Amino acid sequence: MTAATTDLFAFGEERLEELTSARRSPFFAYDLSTARERYRRLRAALPGRVRLAYAVKSNPGLPLLETFAAEGAWFDCASAGEVSAVLAAGGTGSGMVFAGPAKSERDLQAALFAGARVQVDGIEDVARLHVLHTGTEPLRVSVRVNPASGVSEAASIIGGGGPSAFGVDEEELEDFLAQAAAYERVRISGVQVFAASNELDAGRLLANHRTSMAIARKVQELLGRDLDLVDLGGGLGVRYAMSQPSLDVRSLGAGLGRVLDENPWFAGELLLEPGRWLSAPTGVYCARVVRTKVSRGERFVMLEGGINHLLRPLMTGQSFPTLALRPGVGVLGGSGVSAGGRPPLEGGDDVPRAEGGELVPTTLAGPLCTSLDRVGTSDLPTDLRPGDVVVFGQAGAYAYTQAMTHFLSHPAPDQVWVD
Ligand SMILES: Cc1ncc(COP(=O)(O)O)c(C=O)c1O
Repeated sequence: MTAATTDLFAFGEERLEELTSARRSPFFAYDLSTARERYRRLRAALPGRVRLAYAVKSNPGLPLLETFAAEGAWFDCASAGEVSAVLAAGGTGSGMVFAGPAKSERDLQAALFAGARVQVDGIEDVARLHVLHTGTEPLRVSVRVNPASGVSEAASIIGGGGPSAFGVDEEELEDFLAQAAAYERVRISGVQVFAASNELDAGRLLANHRTSMAIARKVQELLGRDLDLVDLGGGLGVRYAMSQPSLDVRSLGAGLGRVLDENPWFAGELLLEPGRWLSAPTGVYCARVVRTKVSRGERFVMLEGGINHLLRPLMTGQSFPTLALRPGVGVLGGSGVSAGGRPPLEGGDDVPRAEGGELVPTTLAGPLCTSLDRVGTSDLPTDLRPGDVVVFGQAGAYAYTQAMTHFLSHPAPDQVWVD
């Protein structure tokens, strides 16, 4: 049998067939060895002074957290629940940062209890931490800054540059630091800037990081003392289409080395908080075809799962890569499978083929009684039929926990962890 998947899918054809024949659809499946390999690859590409914190929100699955904790990763948490999950997985508060534009008392208490480095988003956070912190030494925190300009974002998810719910606006920094100085139990000793998301170009990421370093320098000068941490955020992108390039993490790592050299004033540690880059390629989402139709010229494939399991395409307008699988036959083709004869891609298994007829643009709809229930458009074979399975690649991030699971009371999809 030809293994016809590419690096957009965590598993080869045979494994996907095994998983789909053994499982009730719909389900997510994740490969922990892919997670380990991604972490090691990124770690190896980065200078030693760059810490790596996995952004839990991208996929908080316990086996994944355990895998990253065993690799020595730090974690970026954004709720009390994420803090508990990381501690349960073997992570520690000394390797944890805590972010969020509207932290509840419970969130702050969980972060403090764990010993995480909190990122303050405004003076209210500083005032509340001043009261909650019980230690004898001042609590070291980072200030999240919303840059005035000079950042670029490939797909607007975080919202770099403009008005934002996140952080302190750069132009307000001086006032903020003057006010924060009155709270002697809290000490600003780090800066966090996160202004871009799903960026595939190392050069653009590095340009943003240079902007962040310039902001950090300004904070250090205004404070009149050394910063110990500059957190450059996440935003390392993965490709959702065959036509997109993969992010070159080696050139990102080399560039960060240069950024450190260019900023000798900074003696602390840099932190990256990637979520998607580490977790997206670990997972697939598989849903069986219930029926197909053509409505006024548009081709629809209706699946057993929809935006109750995968919400991202509706929110971002970007589809996941797909392939269609026929039990007992194999991969029929899809937008995530290259045309026959093309060489396999990075991490891919073999030369793919299309066997299910011509690939045609197809709207993927789910079972919910709303026309909003679209999980993307994709080129899929014409002869798809009930019982075939559509596999969505790169579904290890911003998928299972980002969806509207409870809407219409369908069962939650299973999650299968393979190592
Ligand atoms: C504070 C923070 N860090 C890290 C991330 C992870 O971003 P990504 O998955 O794009 O790397 C996010 C995503 O929203 C975030 O808000």
